[in-house]
Amino acid sequence: MIAMLGNLIITMLIIQAPQLHTPMYFLICNLSLLDMSFISVTVPKLLAITKTDMNVLSFKECISQMYFFIATANIESFLLTSMSYDRYVAICNPLLYPLIMNRVSCLFLTVASWLLGFLNSLLLSLLTSNLSFCKSKIINNFFCDLKALLNMSCSDTTLIQTIILVDNFIIGFFPSSLTLTSYAYIISSVLKIHSTEGRHKAFSNCTSHLTILFLFYGTALCLYMVPNAENSQTKDSILSFIYVALIPMVNPLVYSLRNKDVLGALSKVTGWNKAHRISFKNKI
Ligand SMILES: *[C@@H]1O[C@H](CO)[C@@H](O)[C@H](O)[C@H]1NC(C)=O
Repeated sequence: MIAMLGNLIITMLIIQAPQLHTPMYFLICNLSLLDMSFISVTVPKLLAITKTDMNVLSFKECISQMYFFIATANIESFLLTSMSYDRYVAICNPLLYPLIMNRVSCLFLTVASWLLGFLNSLLLSLLTSNLSFCKSKIINNFFCDLKALLNMSCSDTTLIQTIILVDNFIIGFFPSSLTLTSYAYIISSVLKIHSTEGRHKAFSNCTSHLTILFLFYGTALCLYMVPNAENSQTKDSILSFIYVALIPMVNPLVYSLRNKDVLGALSKVTGWNKAHRISFKNKI
């Protein structure tokens, strides 16, 4: 609920406040929208299972859950990369920023993220839906996870495993190294700032972004790049939980609610800004 509420507030605020209509906030708004979808794919079913003990789901439900899970996770990876690139240009190339991050390139980054995510997920889900599952019908996770399904299958999974390997590079390794490189440049230019206060502020922003990125790519890496171990269920479930519930919850806090522009817009929209009200009274 915290995740849904936080992301809903951010989305509404960015749509409402004209001063937040910049590439950075469009990307953040896209991320918030995505986080709400990401959390809706797995958590409601998990809550239903814990509440009612009805831990059965049909194969169709399972494949659709997997489809949306892979799609949203992939899009998240691309959006986080786009956001770090946006910050890299803004901090390291401020003069070229309006030229590089214009409306068109921002639209391109977001549309490409959503499209690639859905296409890749379609491919993996179609291939998985054609496998046969004769060994066991018990999923060792709290949602329909591709890795768990592949472990249960008795068909030949070489093709899917190969695609996953390629995916790991395109969706995991490449974006995460791009992101880390952007932040390496950002940190090196932050260190060149002379005022201690400015450096401190920029640094605290960078470190909170980096924490999210390490959490996201770190858990994804541990979950999908490490070879299957038979008795790693508990570890996988804990990591999956960080991945599906914790990250969407802390994203809005880290990317927006600590931000002065967002807080300013929030106080304007909600009318919490007392100074504003006093000046209004004086005018009357
Ligand atoms: C997502 O990003 C695009 C590109 O900047 C923007 O036009 C669109 O309004 C954003 N969507 C949301 C819901 O924020």
